[in-house]
Parts: sequence; structure tokens; C-alpha cells
Amino acid sequence: MELTDNTLRDYSLIGVEAKKAIEKGLANADWYQSPVDREKMRSLLTRKNGPAIIDTLIWFGLIGLSGYLVYKWWGHWYAILPYIIYSILYASSSDSRWHESSHGTAFKTDWLNNALYEISSFMVFRQSTVWRWSHARHHSDTIIRGRDPEISVQRPPRLRDLALVSLGIGAAMPEWKKLLTHASGKIDKEVATYLPEYEHKKVILIARIYLSVFFLVMALSIIFQSFLPMMFVGLPTLFGTWLMPIYGFTQHAGLDENVLDHRLNCRTVYMNRINRFLYWNMNYHLEHHMFPLVPYHALPKLHELIKDDCPRPYNGIIEAYKEIIPTILKQRKNPTYYVKRALPEKQKNINEGNVIIGDANKLKDGKIEVCELNALSVGDIKRFDFNNKTYAIYRPSSDEVFATDGICTHGNTHLADGIIIGNDIECPKHNGRFGIKDGLPKRSPVCEALNTYSITIENGYIFLQLTTTNNPKATQTFSYKVVSNHNIATYIKELILEPIGNSKIDFKPG
Ligand code: FES
Repeated sequence: MELTDNTLRDYSLIGVEAKKAIEKGLANADWYQSPVDREKMRSLLTRKNGPAIIDTLIWFGLIGLSGYLVYKWWGHWYAILPYIIYSILYASSSDSRWHESSHGTAFKTDWLNNALYEISSFMVFRQSTVWRWSHARHHSDTIIRGRDPEISVQRPPRLRDLALVSLGIGAAMPEWKKLLTHASGKIDKEVATYLPEYEHKKVILIARIYLSVFFLVMALSIIFQSFLPMMFVGLPTLFGTWLMPIYGFTQHAGLDENVLDHRLNCRTVYMNRINRFLYWNMNYHLEHHMFPLVPYHALPKLHELIKDDCPRPYNGIIEAYKEIIPTILKQRKNPTYYVKRALPEKQKNINEGNVIIGDANKLKDGKIEVCELNALSVGDIKRFDFNNKTYAIYRPSSDEVFATDGICTHGNTHLADGIIIGNDIECPKHNGRFGIKDGLPKRSPVCEALNTYSITIENGYIFLQLTTTNNPKATQTFSYKVVSNHNIATYIKELILEPIGNSKIDFKPG
């Protein structure tokens, strides 16, 4: 049946809307970005360990202290207060830690991101590998029906469902279903639409680890004849999740669907310092979606840079809910209703100078002049377009310049808008990484290599060889099979010793 706007909308990833989104060009599309001075953006992108280490120590410290008081006062009514704090920190605040570390932007050091990601995934009760891929899709196709697996308020909204989500049951029930499916050795059908095959074994392993931990906790409760172990692990999902949707609904609820401008489907809400600590600045949600590479601690500065190009932010959670609640109530009867937002006039693109259009007159013997070497600062990247093809030209150090294809092989994104980290380029959309010398994938979700190209410096000018280099690992075929064989030992080794990614990947020419 063809859906009309007044019938129940299909949010399934394998239904009619999934096809329509692809046909309409809404899948993996180009999204609007506010113009930001390149130098200022580079300084915002700087990764740091300090802020997240301090925040994480405070967070775990508060969890430990409140947990200790619960233990000490167990059996007395006044254990309720520390338990409320414990369960909120455990089940609600873990959401924003999970989120930031999934982007790899919380810490400069990758293994810290990976370790926090695995721990907070368990606490917020999300299977880590599954949700890493689900969240990549959410960023590619934000609030696109049939594509985004993380649309929390679907139209028409059902109050009973929203109440269940607020109680922690609404999200936990489908997660339990997926967990049991994965632990049984199968992959959930919807999950399979965004999870690459090479991750299947890892997902099954992690599901079994989660189940084993829950069984162990239940066994401890039985052995000690006390609810305490389950109160510390497992039950916080029921008792402490309520704060997460209060923050979470402010992100997108009631805003437009199927648009390619985050200013129309994301909210920025000013919050006080306590909420911003608990939520790790995700109240700057519009900024985060527009520039997901910017770490949480730099979002307030980013907000200052782009706020004139965005709708007015909400002055607190209450002001946001004054819009969200009536909108949800209207959408129950009229699913086509949404909050219409006025956008400021289009601003001039101040980074046009970073895109160089090749001049055919400067092409000789397959080599084309790009620009003066001095025009490419150390640590920066230029986009170079010639003959309907885009290249990325990198200068990781003063005496090195490299070139690769300019578009990420995972999605439709210009790598010149990313950031150089060591000898890797990090894609601005989902933080996947490639080696800039050999084009090889270094961090998921990218799986296919980039072509690399020779660069020569002549008389202070950069020249690009237009045919790909004779690199057997980065040929025109882009065909690599990913081999992954996970067990508990490889999982822990990856997490602690191989911090480049969440998956051990061996690339074989396909
Ligand atoms: S578009 Fe997804 S990592 Fe580049």
C-alpha cells in the first residue's frame, strides 16, 4: 500500500519508506553546513584528553560514592537518595558518554575512547558494535524515514510508547529481543541493513558476553540472597533511565522529517552547568549534527561561531518542552504537523578558497599544477577538483604532501573537510579514517581503500599525477574483503592494544 501523509508512517528500515528515501536522493545525501572560518574550525577540532579525563573521573567517582552509600545504607529508606543518583549516572548519563566516545571525539587517545565506549554501551544497555553502526546511519540520514534507526518520536506519536521509553522499558524491550537473537547466533533483520557482514561474529560474541554478565549478577543475587547486585547492574536501566529521554526528546522531537538541513530537524537548547555535565554538551545538538568531528567540550565555541546562521536556540529545557508537548499532541491527530522554523538568509561560503579547480592549461604529461606549496598550511588539506573528479591534497608536515581520492568511500563526503591525525585523514561525517600515504582504511565504518596519487613539488608549486599510484593495495577496483574472526581474546586485544578502531581488519584484495 502507498502511504499517504495521514496514515501511519512506516519507520521500518526494510519497508516502503526505505525504498522511497533512496529514490528521492535522501539516503547518504549532502547536508547543509554553516560557513565557519577554516582556521577557527581547525582549532575547534583539536583533540584533547584533559577535559574528558577530568569529567570521566568525576563521573565514575560519583557513581562509586553513591553506590557505596547505597551499599552502606541498604535496608534503610535513606538509601533511596544515593540510589537515585547512582541509577541516573549509571543509566542516563552513560548515554552521552556512549555517544561522544562512539564518535571517537571524547579523548585524543583512541583506546580511551574505545574503553569508555564499551563500558558505557553496557551501562546504557546498547550492544556496542550494533549501535556504533546504527549511530553512523543516524548521522548519514538524520530523521529520514526508512533510513534512520534512531528516530525516538515517530509520527503519529503514541503516548503509551513515549511513557514506556521514559520508564526505560520502551528501549530495553526491543534491545533484549535483539540481544537474544544475536546471542543465539543470528542477526536481527533490521540490524542487518546497516551492519556489515564482517561485524556479525563480533556482535554475536558481545551479545553472549552481555548475557553472561547478567546471568552472573543474577547468580550473585541468589547466592547472597540480596537484590543488591541486580540493583547495581541491570535494574538501573529501569530506575535511572528517565532523565535520558528528557534530554533526548529535545534533540529532534516535533521537528521536520526528510529534510537535508540540520537546522530544520535538530534543536540547540541552553542548559545549566549540571545538565551540561550530565549530558556532555549534547544540548548543542544542531552544532553536533552539522559538525560531528567537533569534540563535546568545543561545542559552546562552535555555537558562537554559527548561531547567526541558525534558528534561535531554546532558553532552557522548559522552553523546549513548551514547543515539544503541544506539537506531539497535535501530531497524534495530524502526523503531517511539525514545527516550522524560519532560517536566516543564506551566508556567503567563506571557505571557497579551499576548493581549487584544476586548470587544463596547467596539465602536462599527466601532471597538473594544484597550487603554491605555501598556500597549503602544515596540517591542512585542500580539495582539488578536475575533470569531474575530486582529490584531497594533504600536508601532514612541512616537507610532506600526499594526495588521495577526495570523497570518502563510505559515504558522500569530502575528505578535505576532515582532520589530519598523524598520518591518517579522519572523515568529517562518521569519523572513519584512512591512511593518507596508502589510502587504506584505518577505522570503521570505512571498509574500502582510497586511490592514492603521486605528488611532486616543483619551483614551490604542488603538482598532482592524475593516474593512481602503482600501489597494489589501492587500485581502481576498490575491492577489499574484510576478514574478521572474533573471540574474547581478540576483542580485549583490540580494545586495549590496538586502539585504531573497533574491529581488527585484514584487507585482502577482493
Ligand atoms: S562518510 Fe562515513 S566515514 Fe566517511
